[in-house]
Amino acid sequence: MSTHDLYTIPAGLSTWNVDMAGTSKFTWEYDDGRDRMLALYQKGKDKQWDSVRRIDWGLEVDPYDVLGIPDTTIAIHGTPLWERMDERQRKDVRLHGAAWQFSQFLHGEQGAMICSARIVESVPDLDSKFYAATQTMDEARHAETYARFLQEKVGLAYPINEHLKALLDSTLTDSRWDMPYLGMQVLIEGLALAAFGVMRDITTKPLPKQILAYVMQDEARHVAFGRMALRDYYKELSETELREREDFVIEGCYLMRDRLRGRETWENLGLTKAEVDEAMQAVDESEYLRLFRSLLFSRIVPCVKDIGLWSPRLQQAYADMGVLEMAGQSLEALMKQDEEIAEKLDEARFAEEESERHTEVADTIALGSTG
Ligand SMILES: [Fe+2]
Ligand SMILES: [Fe+2]
Repeated sequence: MSTHDLYTIPAGLSTWNVDMAGTSKFTWEYDDGRDRMLALYQKGKDKQWDSVRRIDWGLEVDPYDVLGIPDTTIAIHGTPLWERMDERQRKDVRLHGAAWQFSQFLHGEQGAMICSARIVESVPDLDSKFYAATQTMDEARHAETYARFLQEKVGLAYPINEHLKALLDSTLTDSRWDMPYLGMQVLIEGLALAAFGVMRDITTKPLPKQILAYVMQDEARHVAFGRMALRDYYKELSETELREREDFVIEGCYLMRDRLRGRETWENLGLTKAEVDEAMQAVDESEYLRLFRSLLFSRIVPCVKDIGLWSPRLQQAYADMGVLEMAGQSLEALMKQDEEIAEKLDEARFAEEESERHTEVADTIALGSTG
């Protein structure tokens, strides 16, 4: 089935064309590998997985309860608007919220694939090109996985959010080679990773849990790559050049915090204009969403600090957003935990299959002895 049949708002049948700027760079030095980068490349090759095999697609998903989380996570829960809704409308709120969220993950993964392919072309050194090539494949597998999840299990999709699209656009149209890194690897991926993490940790449903945990296992490498490449490069930049990067980061962070709020889901639920405003106000005021929005910066802030964009101006911007304390988060610890969660999930699933197999064997033996 065409995804266009699933879009609840028409997504436009044609492709979205972003003009390319900058140059593709070849290098004839095949032996200048930085050890750390090549180790990451090796890991990128070793850790490829196939969603067709690794994910248990036979698991059922209730589209009206995709993540199996309480209604208190819904922005309008407990408001007069929620109280006025009947159960059918509330079911729609749950479905559209999940469809919107996973659709943005899907479009973001396509963006990540295109940005990493761009990095293959534009980054000057060969070891970074090698690594970005494995990431391009990772992102293709992620997009494949989310697309299948939406198509087979949720049955409803949203077009890309206009603000996410604007951020992708400014990331891709910039001719400076580090901008796709900064926009995609640090900002968009950092945000996505934090959102995946919250959902992975609160979902009670096995299929989304597998998807989120396995995708996160790869994302830890992507963040490591962005940090490694930018940390070295930003040491060489002038004051003015660094300031431009900081402006980009500040603007991008405000945009992600204030604009990526899914107004379109409420507009699409048949609410009146006043009710949409009421819902958006609830989005602003919801205790859960406030916590969620500040958690979204748990990966970005320490990363920005780490790559050397840490002027008083930038720190002030994060203080104004109320997320400056996130700078104390240890990215290493978070990423190590992401890997362990995915590995533990594998172990648990394997142990379960193993014990099912044992029971089956025991049953067969028992059957044989009584027969
Ligand atoms: Fe990804
Ligand atoms: Fe990624």
